[in-house]
Amino acid sequence: MKEHTAKILIPAPLEVTEKTGKLLLNKLKTFSLCNDFGALNADIEKLSSALKMNLKPSAQNADIIFERADLKKNAWQINISPEKINVYANDNAGATYAFYALMQMLFAASIKGLPEDALDCADIYDEPRFEWRGFMLDCARHFQSADFIKKFLKTLAAFRINSFHWHLADSQGWRYPSRFADKITGKGCWSCGNYTIDELKEINQCANELGIRIIPEVDVPGHSELFLENYREYNCDPDQPGTEFCIGNPETLKLLKNIYAELMEIFPDSPIIHIGGDEAETANWDKCPKCLAAMKEKNLKNSRELENSFMTELAEFIIERGRTPMIWGTCSGQLYPTETIIQMWLDIREPLKVIPHGNKTVYSVHNSLYFDYPANLDEPWETWMFELSEKGVYMTDPYIIWPEKVKDGTLGTEACLWTETIPQHRVMSKLFPRIFAYSECAWSAPDNKSWHDFVRRKELLDASGYTDYIKNL
Ligand code: ACM
Ligand code: ZN
Repeated sequence: MKEHTAKILIPAPLEVTEKTGKLLLNKLKTFSLCNDFGALNADIEKLSSALKMNLKPSAQNADIIFERADLKKNAWQINISPEKINVYANDNAGATYAFYALMQMLFAASIKGLPEDALDCADIYDEPRFEWRGFMLDCARHFQSADFIKKFLKTLAAFRINSFHWHLADSQGWRYPSRFADKITGKGCWSCGNYTIDELKEINQCANELGIRIIPEVDVPGHSELFLENYREYNCDPDQPGTEFCIGNPETLKLLKNIYAELMEIFPDSPIIHIGGDEAETANWDKCPKCLAAMKEKNLKNSRELENSFMTELAEFIIERGRTPMIWGTCSGQLYPTETIIQMWLDIREPLKVIPHGNKTVYSVHNSLYFDYPANLDEPWETWMFELSEKGVYMTDPYIIWPEKVKDGTLGTEACLWTETIPQHRVMSKLFPRIFAYSECAWSAPDNKSWHDFVRRKELLDASGYTDYIKNL
């Protein structure tokens, strides 16, 4: 390969110091992992077999050594000398990211398949631009199996994503077993299926090993048609079930607190719980005796204020239990407790209001980061979608406007894949190829980004077989 092998990485790393000298691939015979990074064992063996390298684990003097070092959260370092490769990280995520960076270089170096194939020597240090590098998957509209989710998490980790936001319940499906929703567990209008508690445990463990936090979401008070059709007492009018819970009925709040308490038990390692909050219609609330009485009692001007008071109580409930609530931005002027993370998806001006209030935000603006939107107009698309090209994703930057105002309150970015029209077999085709661009958008320092250079690196990785390997982890 003509290019220095450290110059093909996606996402672009923070610092690359090119050194003279090469490390011949056929000199690499052994690897060692410190105890903490043992989960990478199987990955290294699989990679070694794919590249016909025959790497064996070794306790001493290995050729590739993974060690724990005092680096920042999720950061990693790789030093390649003519004799060996030293890899350093301080957590599972950092070790995983270093592994995939090394994998990219090994694929690129072996592109010719010749005995003189070699890595160029270099010291590479990398750390993330954003603490929050998220991906949301909707398993409510179309269900994906537990095995698929475990593979999907691996793919996300390969792209340095550390937050898996899991949209578990919506109007069209309820995907986990709940004592409070047993009539609808596994039901769905476009596909059926649910995760068992054992599967959820396995998925939690898999996420931990990859350094991914799961953010489970049950979306209320709107997006709840399936629940409300089956538990009619929680509607404003039980004879005409709708999409929104009756938020004037004190029983609704009791029920939802029980549901979130249970969700926190099912996801013991999830520091953040998403409570939904998007797209609730007010029409039923405006004519419901219970909602109208609640507005009067609380001295609220309208049903949006009642919704705000209702969601605030749910957010406070999550906070009291030591977790952080997250909510879709409302676009209607409502403010939530300062601990609440606001996910911005529609109104780019929202941070100007919520950050001064004390909230943190995550950037998921739909026409920049909704992966269900078509990458080009030859793909199937729905009327509500915009075209979202690979370059469009690449160019996305939460600081593009009002950088000084939004910087301190922005945790990072989150791409979203809604699945109204995406059954499981189409998910990967929506993820690739734009996930490469997204990882650089979420991870790399802006000064190290260049669209033209990205295209060059991506072509090399495609040609080397890396992309196909990653698609089939
Ligand atoms: C959303 O797209 N309704 C958050
Ligand atoms: Zn009501």
